[in-house]
Amino acid sequence: MVATNDRWIVERTGIRERHIAPPEIATSDMAIAAARCALAQRGIDASGIDAIIVCTVTPDMFFPATACLVQNALGARRAWGFDLVAACSGFVYGTTTAAHLVAAGTHRRVLVIGSDTMSRIIDYTDRSTCILFGDAAGAMLIESAAEEEDFTFIDFLGEIDGSGGEYLKMPAGGSRLPASHETVERRLHYVHQEGQQVFKYAVRKMYESCKELLDRNGLTSRDVGILIPHQANGRIISATAERLALPPDKVLINIDRYGNTTAATIPLATQDAIHQGRLRKGDLVMFAAVGAGYTVGASLWRWAY
Ligand code: UT7
Repeated sequence: MVATNDRWIVERTGIRERHIAPPEIATSDMAIAAARCALAQRGIDASGIDAIIVCTVTPDMFFPATACLVQNALGARRAWGFDLVAACSGFVYGTTTAAHLVAAGTHRRVLVIGSDTMSRIIDYTDRSTCILFGDAAGAMLIESAAEEEDFTFIDFLGEIDGSGGEYLKMPAGGSRLPASHETVERRLHYVHQEGQQVFKYAVRKMYESCKELLDRNGLTSRDVGILIPHQANGRIISATAERLALPPDKVLINIDRYGNTTAATIPLATQDAIHQGRLRKGDLVMFAAVGAGYTVGASLWRWAY
């Protein structure tokens, strides 16, 4: 499709494999499947969910919200919910929002889903973006723990910087440039990215947010059980790990198997960490992401699963 080669892709991004949803599958379908897995794994019924947050930049439609489609399919009759748009930082923002709802005492169980069908908004004639993104969904239940348990959400550090909005966006389809023949002809309904700009910002911010979060909680990288970062580029993750002095076994990298799946990277990576025995009950886990917006977020948790 484009002038590229496997060596360039592997060396510059770390990606070896990506997964593309078939045409009949949309973001809510993957979200529902992920939610069902999470509920089955936890052994609870959908009626036990108080709220659903779907983090996505590729909803089935502008409205109704994907959260409504998921709620209906699951039969989560007591749940309210909404979609959260924070691109690659979506899952960090979603789980943090859920933790605050639970901490407020008004919610017992919040289902957070990261689901993105990036292949629908990728221009497969643009070699600088089409080799990066894949489709996926993951789900996580944020629940209140028994008081005597030490499993907890510890802290979150978030930042947005709209001056970086130009560097990664889908220009058309919203109220600024509604869909028209012209917007379609100009390929404005696809992801446009200035890769180097985003790369430089991500390398700096991923490190700075993790470092500040650890510092202000009186922690060092030695206390971290595992860092689970957004998977945009293997080089961004390695640079962050190196600056934090985190050894490779304390950093989850699975971009080789999925590519950049936007809001789904962190739940997918968390699942891999659990399956590989690298995330165990009681571990200190740090999530971190930088994405379009710009959006930045890092969070610290004592893992309960
Ligand atoms: O998750 C949301 C946040 N997104 C990110 O964090 C992405 C951040 N950016 C990146 O990961 C990297 O910037 C990319 C992987 C997108 C690009 O890597 P790069 O090392 O920054 O490459 P570049 O854009 O500086 O391009 C270097 C060269 C150029 O050729 P010339 O001008 O040096 O002749 C590109 O045209 O590589 C060329 N190039 C490619 N060559 C083969 C760009 N894409 C490709 C390709 N195959 N797919």
